[in-house]
Amino acid sequence: DDFLATVAEKSNGAALRGNYEKADEQYVVAQDWDAYTEEEHELWRKLYQRQMELLPGRACDEFIAALHKMDASGGIPKFERTSEELFAATGWRIVAVPGLIPELTFFEHLANRRFPITVWLRKPEEFNYIVEPDVFHDYFGHVPLLFNPVFADYMQLYGKGGLKAMKLGGLDYLARLYWYTVEFGLIKTDKGLRIYGAGILSSGGEVEYCLKPGTPSRHIHLEIERCLQTLYKIDSFQETYFVIDNFQQLFDGTAPDFTPYYERLKQLDALPANTLLPGEVELLP
Ligand code: PHE
Ligand code: FE
Repeated sequence: DDFLATVAEKSNGAALRGNYEKADEQYVVAQDWDAYTEEEHELWRKLYQRQMELLPGRACDEFIAALHKMDASGGIPKFERTSEELFAATGWRIVAVPGLIPELTFFEHLANRRFPITVWLRKPEEFNYIVEPDVFHDYFGHVPLLFNPVFADYMQLYGKGGLKAMKLGGLDYLARLYWYTVEFGLIKTDKGLRIYGAGILSSGGEVEYCLKPGTPSRHIHLEIERCLQTLYKIDSFQETYFVIDNFQQLFDGTAPDFTPYYERLKQLDALPANTLLPGEVELLP
């Protein structure tokens, strides 16, 4: 299929990780929870414990509170149980997928309040670093905030925005917004900056790094068009973190029609990941 061919090409012919044979046309599979080994559950517990030691005073309260309610410290969780709790809270569901899925399918899931979670867990040697999203990143990093009504609405809106951006040639820009908010976002609180981005919250090193004063990385207030214009790093810590005041700002800031944004951005060069524009304030000097 087209998608598998594209990914195989991108990764120099290396096979796509995950088993796509039993996936339906939306790339959904059964989680097959019984197939996880005791070693995998043990690795999950270690990943979970390590993150829990890092999160107090760093992750936002909404994330930590929801994570505790999800009660997934004992091993790889059954998606079905969390999915029911999530549906009761915000109308979202979890669906199991074999791994990376096509953009169109991903957006369709989000637009319908379904969050796709990869079924496989990383190998022990990938404890600190993994290239592709696995079940730990997807579940631990992303699911807690889907219990927050405003963030949950933002994610659905993003899915719809993705479907629209595909038609407008805006995907490269919109992907940056996902990266800098959903994956690597920071939020201002009365106790200081906190993390809400899943890419940080599921990573060992970056949880500490992103809130450390004096690093070369930028911490600047999120302006939507500025973010859409900014390149990002996929193989190192971020050089810029965009900070929001609250989740409502995220929702309201992305509610307008992006068509004119894309038209303007197509006339401009992208900004390097470490840009600080005149007038922009470093929020973590
Ligand atoms: N409002 C945007 C548009 O019209 C879509 C969008 C929503 C983008 C939410 C990001 C987040 O294209
Ligand atoms: Fe992710």
